[in-house]
Amino acid sequence: MAGNWKMYKTASETTEFFEKFRPLVEKSDHADIVICPPFTNLAAAVAAAKGSRIEIGAQNVFWAKEGAYTGEVSGPMLTALGIQWVIIGHSERRQYFGETDETVLKRTQAALEYGLKPIVCVGEHLQEREAGKTEAVLEAQFAGGIAKLSAEQFAKIVIAYEPVWAIGTGRTATPEIAEEAHRFLRSRAEAVYGKAAADAVRILYGGSVKPDNVKNLMAQPDIDGVLVGGASLDPASFGKIVNF
Ligand code: PGA
Repeated sequence: MAGNWKMYKTASETTEFFEKFRPLVEKSDHADIVICPPFTNLAAAVAAAKGSRIEIGAQNVFWAKEGAYTGEVSGPMLTALGIQWVIIGHSERRQYFGETDETVLKRTQAALEYGLKPIVCVGEHLQEREAGKTEAVLEAQFAGGIAKLSAEQFAKIVIAYEPVWAIGTGRTATPEIAEEAHRFLRSRAEAVYGKAAADAVRILYGGSVKPDNVKNLMAQPDIDGVLVGGASLDPASFGKIVNF
């Protein structure tokens, strides 16, 4: 159960969140719990989560170890802070910051090389869904951004299916629509890595997940978890989602 805070909260707001959130998930050992704040709050989040089951993730990582890359942050910088996870290829990064399947692959490979667990995002736009191109888009994103990983690397990633039309819009994919896409992604994984690897990979759903729709989404056989934006900013609502 992962929270993507996007560009919200300061470091002190992060600390306040954890004070309220920690007790709500103290006994929630049915799931891995990950929170991904902005870079500026990662240290505060690691400190505030210390001794709990909550793990901390970043929202992006560059592929080089260090160098003249103004504005970027590397894997070793993140792991040195105690960061365990990283979201890669979120649709907002693809849409506003020129992220492509190729850069998604490079970031994912680097994240793995430096010991981070990548949550790799895929998902179609509304026009693509309406044109009947959902599977073609997912296929292309999987082929370009994921399928070039080795079997050993693939075993360490989490995939997030986030239909762009459902992100921040209040318009969740129905559990059936989400399940269909998840099943398709798992079939692509099986074609490349075999059945055992495809069964084992965790595929998260993201896009307007709320306390009142999480249960039906999680009831789908191919939905293994959720990646939550807006509803992860409030400790009570994210607590309810984790404890669905
Ligand atoms: P949302 O965002 O839950 O606010 O729709 C999900 C995401 O972008 O990860």
